[in-house]
Amino acid sequence: MTFPKNFLWGGATAANQVEGAYDEGGRGRALTDYTLAGSVEKSRVVTFLDENGNYAESIHMAEKLPKGAKLHIFEDKYYPNQKAIDFYHNYKEDIKLFAEMGFSIYRMSISWPRIYPNGIEEKPNQEGLDFYRKVFEELKKYNIEPLVTISHYDNPAYIDNNLGGWANREIIDLYTKYSKTVMEEYRDLVKYWLTFNEINVELMIAELLGHSDKFDRKKAYQALHNQMIASAKTVINARDINPDFKVGCMIAGFVCYPLTSDPKDILLAQDKMQRNFWYPADVMVRGAYPYYTKKLWEEVGLEFAISEEDKNILKEGKVDYYTFSYYSSQAVTVNLDEAEISKGNFASGVVNPYLTYSDWGWSKDPDGLRYILNEIYTRYQVPVMVVENGLGAYDKVEDDGSIIDDYRIDYMKDHIVAMDQAIKDGVDLIAYTSWAPIDLISAGTGQMSKRYGFIYVDLDDEGNGTLKRSKKKSFDWYKKVIASNGEDLD
Ligand code: BG6
Repeated sequence: MTFPKNFLWGGATAANQVEGAYDEGGRGRALTDYTLAGSVEKSRVVTFLDENGNYAESIHMAEKLPKGAKLHIFEDKYYPNQKAIDFYHNYKEDIKLFAEMGFSIYRMSISWPRIYPNGIEEKPNQEGLDFYRKVFEELKKYNIEPLVTISHYDNPAYIDNNLGGWANREIIDLYTKYSKTVMEEYRDLVKYWLTFNEINVELMIAELLGHSDKFDRKKAYQALHNQMIASAKTVINARDINPDFKVGCMIAGFVCYPLTSDPKDILLAQDKMQRNFWYPADVMVRGAYPYYTKKLWEEVGLEFAISEEDKNILKEGKVDYYTFSYYSSQAVTVNLDEAEISKGNFASGVVNPYLTYSDWGWSKDPDGLRYILNEIYTRYQVPVMVVENGLGAYDKVEDDGSIIDDYRIDYMKDHIVAMDQAIKDGVDLIAYTSWAPIDLISAGTGQMSKRYGFIYVDLDDEGNGTLKRSKKKSFDWYKKVIASNGEDLD
């Protein structure tokens, strides 16, 4: 194995999926507080009162709230993110377990509404600032480097409900105020920052739910532009706040293969990669819109002149490193009658006969990780981190309390081998944070039963359970992997 000596090993989570305590510590509401659980067949929905005061719902992250909608929590429904796994009160115990596994890095996010409850306040919420200070200090105690996502699916709900979300340019200033606040506050505790989690996700959702008449692709491009400006401004501010800061982009891995050697399949896959994957990082890493932007915008009738000021901001605010999530790959073909359409939440394209699939329809493709690492590095030539990778699976607790998750170990082992090969290929890969070191609420389905952790949390899909943490078989396995710097994978 060839992992460099200072390679960073750890795990990743997001505030809204672990913290809970949704109404404590002066925190405002986030959209996830109003989001119900779904399943492999059923999308998650956000609940609200419609113009007439009646119960209504819209697909989480995919559909915009209609005019007059008032987000609402219905007492008879279970909203899994509100309690999540209660990291808010258990962070010491959880970090201790991460330290026991030997983590040198922990990717986590700050909840925007914990800092600015509605996003619009003059002053930040001191209790929120204090909470993350305590978390960072706890990490420091164990020499764990925090990698902080400033925004991980966690806008203050007020922004989405009352200000029109990211399509509204005013959100840029609200975000930069927030990002500046946290970078200044934690200037001596945090070095690695990520501006937005999976910034390409709206584009991917458009691809998956392109049929939805409530989804506006034109707006998605505008919203993304605003986010990229906010990100670039954050990079520019970071350099003033602490020249040692490193700020990166975070892109949802989207690896798309042509199903056959039909040149039309090759072109289709190339096009999907441009529109879903390359587009935002081309801007954030290289500092300017790529040539194929014109084609994409014309398709949706978007006539949008980027001002000179924005062009300069993008150029000046290029990120220092590239990070992405990687779970699976997709295959596409123009000959749909000869292929089987993929099923499962967030699956797109057609079934790849060379791969196996998880219970949620996600393919398992470690070679795809080596492939995309090479593609990314060829294109950008900046340090790369894999900041999410793991297997969501049903776990069984044996009578003696043990959890034998060999399937998870196998999945991760194969992906670690793929990373090793990519490093041998010459990719400057500097860190790996698995998703997730501890069971948490699934972002896509809201289920607890879609488990990712090395640490089991006693909580079910309806919110029952003691929240007690226990180690799965993979816990000791990952500990050994880290201790041997990726040498010992058995
Ligand atoms: C990524 C997100 O898309 O995938 C995480 O950044 C998410 O927030 C992870 O949890 C796994 O997806 P899911 O739907 O299984 O939780």
